[in-house]
Amino acid sequence: MIKKFKNFIFLGSPGSGKGTQALNLIKETSLVHLSTGDLLRKEIEEKSELGLKLKNIIDAGQLVDDKTVAELLKKNCDLKSKSFIFDGFPRTLAQAEILSEDVLANFGHVAVYFEMPEDVIVSRLVHRRICQKCNAIYNIKTKPPKNDGYCDNCESEKLFHRSDDKEEVIRERVKVYNENIGPVLDFYRNKDLLKVIDANRENRLILDELLGFLDN
Ligand code: AP5
Ligand code: MG
Repeated sequence: MIKKFKNFIFLGSPGSGKGTQALNLIKETSLVHLSTGDLLRKEIEEKSELGLKLKNIIDAGQLVDDKTVAELLKKNCDLKSKSFIFDGFPRTLAQAEILSEDVLANFGHVAVYFEMPEDVIVSRLVHRRICQKCNAIYNIKTKPPKNDGYCDNCESEKLFHRSDDKEEVIRERVKVYNENIGPVLDFYRNKDLLKVIDANRENRLILDELLGFLDN
């Protein structure tokens, strides 16, 4: 039985398609996409002292500390007026506790785990390109832009290859992810708030399954 909820929490390894499906969902719902990775990269772009520190951590494939990420997240979500897709948060048990017991205490939510075989991840991510302006996500093998190297939505905006999308960094990110995700999944499973989806399928099938969760 799916409980009534308003907010989605997307859990899944690097490259499992969390960002892609969040962008698909916001086109068909009033949900707002909130990716801690995007928020952190925005800080880096601003070249603040914090941004420089964050860049070193992210480029090494490590996690930013719970306090910094939680503060950034809280600053960017007004749950009274909107419902969100939390993408990439939580990644640790401490973050799951903050999210469910502090941020979402009075708001319905369900966690969706994007299950994904590890061998597909590296290929997906080394070929990923993103638009820094609108955050659109491409893949030069499986979802290329219409004009080579440029965003379909922002036209003159050159696509960007994330500095942490190098094979050795991807492998470290996956290792760190695997070390931390078990207790997070147990946390939601024990509250009967966990849905597991097969993320190694065509995009439309995954989106339909997610939309189905909203209908129930
Ligand atoms: P973040 O930006 O969240 O990266 P991530 O979790 O590693 O996830 P990705 O964005 O790489 O993958 P995705 O699941 O969104 O896949 P996408 O849809 O793009 O975090 C980056 C870093 O920030 C972390 O390493 C950490 O340092 C830090 N950080 C962030 N949050 C943190 C937190 N809470 N605590 C501490 N540190 C934090 O798809 C990937 C590719 O696959 C694309 O090319 C896409 O086109 C393709 N694709 C997607 N779906 C499909 C499909 N169904 N079929 C075929 N191809 C597909
Ligand atoms: Mg992402």
